[in-house]
Amino acid sequence: MILPTFILVVVGLIALSHSQEAVRPYMGWSSWSLQATTMPGHGLSWLKEDNVLRQIDVMAATLKDFGYTYINIDSGWNADFDWNAGFDLNGRPIPNPARFPRGIDFVANYAHERGLKLGIYAPVGLPMGVFGSDQDNKVNFDVSGPSGNCTGFDLVYPDFRVTNGWDSSYKMDFDNSCAQEFIDSIAELFVQWEIDFFKLDGVGPGSWKNGSNYDNRPDVAAWRSAFDKTGRSVILEISWELDITFIADWTASASGWRIDTDVECYCDTLVRWTQSVVQRFDDIVPWIDHAGPGRWNDLDTINVGNGTMDGLTEDERRSYMTLWAISSAPLYIGDDLSLLDEFGLTLLTNREVISINQDGVPARPVSPGVAQQVWWSPNIGDAVPSFIVGLFNLAEQEETVAANWVDFGFSGAANVRDVWAGLELGVYTGSYAVRVPTHGCRLIRVTPLASY
Ligand SMILES: *[C@@H]1O[C@H](CO)[C@@H](O)[C@H](O)[C@H]1NC(C)=O
Ligand SMILES: *[C@@H]1O[C@H](CO)[C@@H](O)[C@H](O)[C@H]1NC(C)=O
Ligand SMILES: *[C@@H]1O[C@H](CO)[C@@H](O)[C@H](O)[C@H]1NC(C)=O
Repeated sequence: MILPTFILVVVGLIALSHSQEAVRPYMGWSSWSLQATTMPGHGLSWLKEDNVLRQIDVMAATLKDFGYTYINIDSGWNADFDWNAGFDLNGRPIPNPARFPRGIDFVANYAHERGLKLGIYAPVGLPMGVFGSDQDNKVNFDVSGPSGNCTGFDLVYPDFRVTNGWDSSYKMDFDNSCAQEFIDSIAELFVQWEIDFFKLDGVGPGSWKNGSNYDNRPDVAAWRSAFDKTGRSVILEISWELDITFIADWTASASGWRIDTDVECYCDTLVRWTQSVVQRFDDIVPWIDHAGPGRWNDLDTINVGNGTMDGLTEDERRSYMTLWAISSAPLYIGDDLSLLDEFGLTLLTNREVISINQDGVPARPVSPGVAQQVWWSPNIGDAVPSFIVGLFNLAEQEETVAANWVDFGFSGAANVRDVWAGLELGVYTGSYAVRVPTHGCRLIRVTPLASY
């Protein structure tokens, strides 16, 4: 009987959780997948007010009812169409007028009026462009923090060492209180706009970088502190492929962390199965024990809403949604919400699957790294204890996948329910085996008949 231990661990995590943000995995939409594809009509110029308002309209009309609320504007909101970022005289990012002519506060208000939330984005460190376009002749600036005594040159090291996953920022020196003051001034601006979510990107150790210049742990802590000072509840999510060695730092400040590189293929669809959906079955495994209320393993965007756009088969789309759901990963859609197909809508709006995700008990594989994988988690939300079990076939041909009750800590007879089909399959003793198509899955709920 392993269930009580598991529950104690989960309750312990709730007590340790640093903040009230993201008690459950957040659900919403992010702009990046549509910015990252070469699909006609999309790409880097796609991020514009009218396109974002359209997402808000669709989410409010069809998806909000299922729990999707966050509309997250990703990279580029303060950049022109040549990707030159804009800043005010105090070094704070300002919306690009060609993309957001009425400002970010207008979009936030539009979302809030419809019962939704708005997210914004920044790369970690002090973006080089703050000092003007000629980096050999840097233009200093005054920070609009409370002391009134800080300039841009106080925020960085004298040698202007660089940081982040793209080497696009100067590393900030948090031994000088001006650095925190500057972060505070940006957080205050975002909170004036009534932002609900903030993604800090290119964070190291992680983002394919390590070493002291890429140690952005002080930056992450500074952003958490800055938002906490404002009194507004803002989810802080960090990206990408964070170094698990520093999980204690990530959990202390962030509500979620991208465990992997971008899911997007940077091709003419949003993703491909091999680039880069399927590796997440392996890459999430070391992170599973670290997830819990207010601290989620972020698998990146779910691109399952339109098969043509996604570049995936229906079986691949269902497996994608299933892995994210049972991993308690944040569920944020990357497709154009106004172009969801019928199958995509059924994947994104299955209430039983969403409630499994929102219960927040991440599943784990019985045996990782093999072609036929069985993932399971005890379902603490049910009156009668049950197990949520995903059976995945990652092979290139149809195969049998078998779930054995002994792996979940019980034996004997159990009721088996097919969650995606919404069908009771009957009583199975000891195990359940099923043929699963290439890259496909079954999601079952296993309820032991006897107490164990
Ligand atoms: C700014 O610095 C000056 C000179 O060091 C000092 O006199 C002043 O009190 C400082 N102002 C604030 C608001 O800290
Ligand atoms: C740092 O990065 C280098 C090059 O990618 C890698 O070989 C090394 O193992 C990394 N060190 C740590 C501590 O992650
Ligand atoms: C799915 O996306 C494709 C490509 O953008 C589009 O042509 C099609 O109309 C979309 N399907 C639906 C149902 O909107």
